[in-house]
Amino acid sequence: MQTIAASLIRTQSLRPASARTFVSSASRWQAVPTQKPVLQKEFKIYRWNPDEPAKKPTLQSYTIDLNQTGPMILDALIKIKNEIDPTLTFRRSCREGICGSCAMNIGGQNTLACLCRIDRKEGKDTKIYPLPHMYIVKDLVPDLTLFYKQYKSIQPYLQNDNPPAQGEFLQSQEDRKKLDGLYECILCACCSTSCPSYWWNQDEYLGPATLMQAYRWIADSRDSYGAQRKEKLQNEFSLYRCHTIFNCSRTCPKGLNPAAAIAKIKLELAAD
Ligand code: SF4
Ligand code: SF4
Ligand code: FES
Repeated sequence: MQTIAASLIRTQSLRPASARTFVSSASRWQAVPTQKPVLQKEFKIYRWNPDEPAKKPTLQSYTIDLNQTGPMILDALIKIKNEIDPTLTFRRSCREGICGSCAMNIGGQNTLACLCRIDRKEGKDTKIYPLPHMYIVKDLVPDLTLFYKQYKSIQPYLQNDNPPAQGEFLQSQEDRKKLDGLYECILCACCSTSCPSYWWNQDEYLGPATLMQAYRWIADSRDSYGAQRKEKLQNEFSLYRCHTIFNCSRTCPKGLNPAAAIAKIKLELAAD
């Protein structure tokens, strides 16, 4: 049997001279990778370690070359953790604005690290803190226990005592449209932790993220517990601590408008 090497030699010897010329001239013009210039950037990152409770939180400085880093703040954090300081702690999962876990305060704004571009201006540092006014688990990781407890309290699931005899709950296209701008919330908590009312009354005021989800179920034509849902919000604190300052809507990294949803609940309660 003919070997592969022998067949290759035979094919090469059959190739016309012009083809050989083309191969050698193409290799002469092959692109040579160029080295990008170094672009140093300083990140000042909030550090606090629960194993050293007596030590005050500090801002720790890290400098990396942006030309060796991806474009987003999350890329920088991952590079720092992988190559400089494995003790740096932060949450992340999807890296595409879907899971909500990388929410933090970057350059003074609550946002998602994976959707936030690094400011490439030379000589300008970027400060990164955890979401404000929250208890901290470690470094950039806030304790979201209360946030999720509040979310659970609004019973964020369909409730209807008269399910259809057959098949699914149906909904008109018009009714389905009422959920747009509500269902997309990823519960990142950027809005709630930017709300002054939530900062000062966190124990009793539900905050914009949870209230928007409360409205998401009130507005759903398939749910028949709207009256009970509204009744639960009819007290001094759960809803009415919202003073329509709009920080929440300004900060939402998904472009949603929790303040508008809160205003709609207030309107419905006033009309009842
Ligand atoms: S409304 Fe926006 S900021 Fe608030 S939790 Fe949902 S996605 Fe995050
Ligand atoms: S509009 Fe209401 S929920 Fe939004 S930031 Fe202002 S007080 Fe908070
Ligand atoms: S990593 Fe999932 S939203 Fe940023």
